[in-house]
Amino acid sequence: MSAIEQIQQVAAPANGYNVQDFAENKRLQVITLSEETLTAFEQETQQWDVQALEYKPFLRFAIADKLDAICGGTLSPRLNQIMQNRDQAAFLLQYEGQPASDQSEFNVKLSTAVSHLIGMPNFDSMYGKYYARFTVRNEDNSDSYLRQAHRRMELHNDGTYVDERTDFVLMMKMDEKNMEGGESLLLHVDDWQDLDKFYNHPLAKQDIVWGSPPSKQVAYKVEHPVFFEEDSQGKPHMLFIDQFAEPQNMRQGLYLHQMGESLESEENCFGVRVPVGSMLVCQNHCWVHGRDKFVPHPGLERELLRQRGHFTKA
Ligand SMILES: [Fe+2]
Repeated sequence: MSAIEQIQQVAAPANGYNVQDFAENKRLQVITLSEETLTAFEQETQQWDVQALEYKPFLRFAIADKLDAICGGTLSPRLNQIMQNRDQAAFLLQYEGQPASDQSEFNVKLSTAVSHLIGMPNFDSMYGKYYARFTVRNEDNSDSYLRQAHRRMELHNDGTYVDERTDFVLMMKMDEKNMEGGESLLLHVDDWQDLDKFYNHPLAKQDIVWGSPPSKQVAYKVEHPVFFEEDSQGKPHMLFIDQFAEPQNMRQGLYLHQMGESLESEENCFGVRVPVGSMLVCQNHCWVHGRDKFVPHPGLERELLRQRGHFTKA
């Protein structure tokens, strides 16, 4: 075998995809589905449209199973292995080539397959489905930072103000126009240099009240500590978001304020550019995520699809 053949053999995706470390942070795994996988998945799922997936929850598992079968049954164990390994626990999944059919429909199907290979999405009350799609534009008059383009959305965990587990977050780029900036921001909790200071603080395990603005369509408030549990290795799981914490006294207020300041100045936070058709999936309790600000442009438009869910198997 020549040297060139050997290189090609190494580079060729086994089982229809390949996995690499993200250059800037090796915890994040980059999974690239080959064009053959993309085509096979498109063909084998063409009998189901997005409406069918919305109406019949079991089809979401069937579509996930198709994707796994196309990848020789290896994708599901690989994704779960990544998500259950605290040292990684995040991946960026992308594909080569372009779907022949409507790309937006295809992206909903692919994100559904991926979320159901690692668990099950929770009902998204803001959108009324198992997933949500929302657009960031240059102008905004909403009641949280979610859609505000010109400021950085601070590092946070999802699911802080709901009473159901949010083990993972999936964010897929559906569309973008005139976009500059707006990268996804990630920080692994174990890379946070001030973690010990806040985790060993007397308030680390004290209940905090968490509420949300009307657009979230969650009528109740919940109470839990920021460091609400430990994983199987005894390492902290976190649930924090600056906007929705409702401190009840000065000590809580200053603890949360200092935590926010510390996270925002953490140099180990890194940016990830998510191209259209790619999705970022992270374990929600050992990663915090955010979004950098966009460069203003009157035609700025960016659509994201998100799914937030719980693990169904270890
Ligand atoms: Fe979020």
